[in-house]
Amino acid sequence: MQRSGSLSQIVLVLYHVAIAACAKLLSGGTIIAFDQETEELKVIRNGSVLIDGDRIVSVSDIASPFDVPAGGRTVFKTMGSNTTLADYGSRYSALVAAPLFTPDDLYISQLAGIYEAMAAGVTTIVDHAHHTWTPDTSAAGLRASVDSGARMYWAYTFQNSSAEFGIPEQIAQWKELAASMTSNLTQLAIAYDDFTTNPTGADTLAVADLIRESKSLLTTHHVEGPWLLGNSPEDLHRVGVLNSSTPVVIAHAAFLDVRGAGLLRSTNQHISITAESEMHYGHLHPTSHLIMDQASLGVDTHMTFSTDILTQARLWLQSTRYRVYQNTIDRFQVPAQNPFSVNQAFLLATRNGGLAVGRKDLGVIALGAQADLVVWEGRSPGMLGWTDPVAAVILHASVGDITHVLIGGTFKKRDGRLVDARYYDEVQDRFLASARRIQKVLKDTPLPSQEGSFLTGTPYGYVMQLDAKRGEGTGYGPSFV
Ligand SMILES: *[C@@H]1O[C@H](CO)[C@@H](O)[C@H](O)[C@H]1NC(C)=O
Ligand SMILES: *[C@@H]1O[C@H](CO)[C@@H](O)[C@H](O)[C@H]1NC(C)=O
Ligand SMILES: *[C@@H]1O[C@H](CO)[C@@H](O)[C@H](O)[C@H]1NC(C)=O
Ligand SMILES: *[C@@H]1O[C@H](CO)[C@@H](O)[C@H](O)[C@H]1NC(C)=O
Ligand SMILES: *[C@@H]1O[C@H](CO)[C@@H](O)[C@H](O)[C@H]1NC(C)=O
Repeated sequence: MQRSGSLSQIVLVLYHVAIAACAKLLSGGTIIAFDQETEELKVIRNGSVLIDGDRIVSVSDIASPFDVPAGGRTVFKTMGSNTTLADYGSRYSALVAAPLFTPDDLYISQLAGIYEAMAAGVTTIVDHAHHTWTPDTSAAGLRASVDSGARMYWAYTFQNSSAEFGIPEQIAQWKELAASMTSNLTQLAIAYDDFTTNPTGADTLAVADLIRESKSLLTTHHVEGPWLLGNSPEDLHRVGVLNSSTPVVIAHAAFLDVRGAGLLRSTNQHISITAESEMHYGHLHPTSHLIMDQASLGVDTHMTFSTDILTQARLWLQSTRYRVYQNTIDRFQVPAQNPFSVNQAFLLATRNGGLAVGRKDLGVIALGAQADLVVWEGRSPGMLGWTDPVAAVILHASVGDITHVLIGGTFKKRDGRLVDARYYDEVQDRFLASARRIQKVLKDTPLPSQEGSFLTGTPYGYVMQLDAKRGEGTGYGPSFV
């Protein structure tokens, strides 16, 4: 399962949480709010947030002014600690993984993965759901998403899964699922990766029609450079799905050029920079820092790395600073400024995720916004002593410092524990049983050899191996799987 465009909202050090019926008051903490007029972050110290139902009804600079009214794929975890993108494609990706999963494995893996994200402070998920291999795996993935209680754009991937269950059959199932959706938090969306490989085929035209008719969010993967994986903004525009109010989230958008970036700006569509994935697998993101005004942050295959947006923000901030400083250093000069602020990293992790899914009411603490809140323990060993709350979160906090997570005004994590904790014990046991069985199959499968060319025809190239021990060729050592 790949995820992109996730986001979280953040509150710091809230000392008191009062709850009565559906109204909740979080008070006595520092709030990183959003000023809708100036479009800037606004820090409120010792303030409070009042939630009624699923909305923020007041954000105040007074600690306690109100009377509270009465009233997927995650099973592969640690199996790919040193994979490349090409390895990933031939060993773990959608159609390779398909035979390993029963609908039950899929359900429990999806649920465990979403709990992992919610515990880590992710309040909205766009899931590029690759697990649409059969009608039963598709239904299981959607059911797990709804059951999880997450705010979710579950993007059904239209792909050539098998001769019997091709794209026309998948579109028919999508329509049936759409007709029976009753959840307020989970929305059916669309994922498609064949805009370039099959630009005028009947399948692509049918998917484009569905996007236009249903106005459902589209997500796709765009990775160019030597990878040649297509789905550029230009290719999406050509089939008429980019220039409308229907949101499009382009994952990675690695090697975006001036034309593509301009098209995203003029159509107000967003990319999802999955910083950790792009560094881990080697697809890179050489130009993404030049289009941050149309960017959000995302998490990729979290079997191999972290699932939280905070880590993405920190990695993206520091690696981008490195990239930009390098330019000055390369001119034999000493950097005179810092190029990229913690406030910008914070906005990418929160508000820009909301904008990417076309929602001004997500990713911000502001009047009328959805009450999606993350509460950090400001007296944790890592954060103790902060004065700038934005810097405290972006540079010092860890996921372990998150005490509460609320989505749509409902606690999902409270006092450091998932709210469904007892139920979660059972999910863990079922998940581990599936994971052990599937991991065994993978352990018994030889690693792929990357010789000759990548699937798009580009030749594989030599990668220098690094050593942390003295001597020639001490290399990786074993993977402990
Ligand atoms: C926060 O404000 C309340 C009153 O609104 C006050 O009693 C309390 O001492 C303040 N706390 C801090 C840390 O300033
Ligand atoms: C899926 O397979 C069918 C039959 O082989 C083919 O006509 C169609 O173009 C394929 N679709 C995509 C998106 O590759
Ligand atoms: C969805 O929201 C509506 C209106 O806010 C509410 O009446 C309904 O009970 C909600 N449904 C679910 C499944 O939460
Ligand atoms: C997008 O559509 C608007 C009108 O709906 C048009 O003015 C604009 O030129 C279009 N942009 C592109 C890039 O096609
Ligand atoms: C990963 O490490 C294993 C040894 O544990 C090695 O056999 C494999 O070739 C490595 N993979 C890559 C892509 O370097």
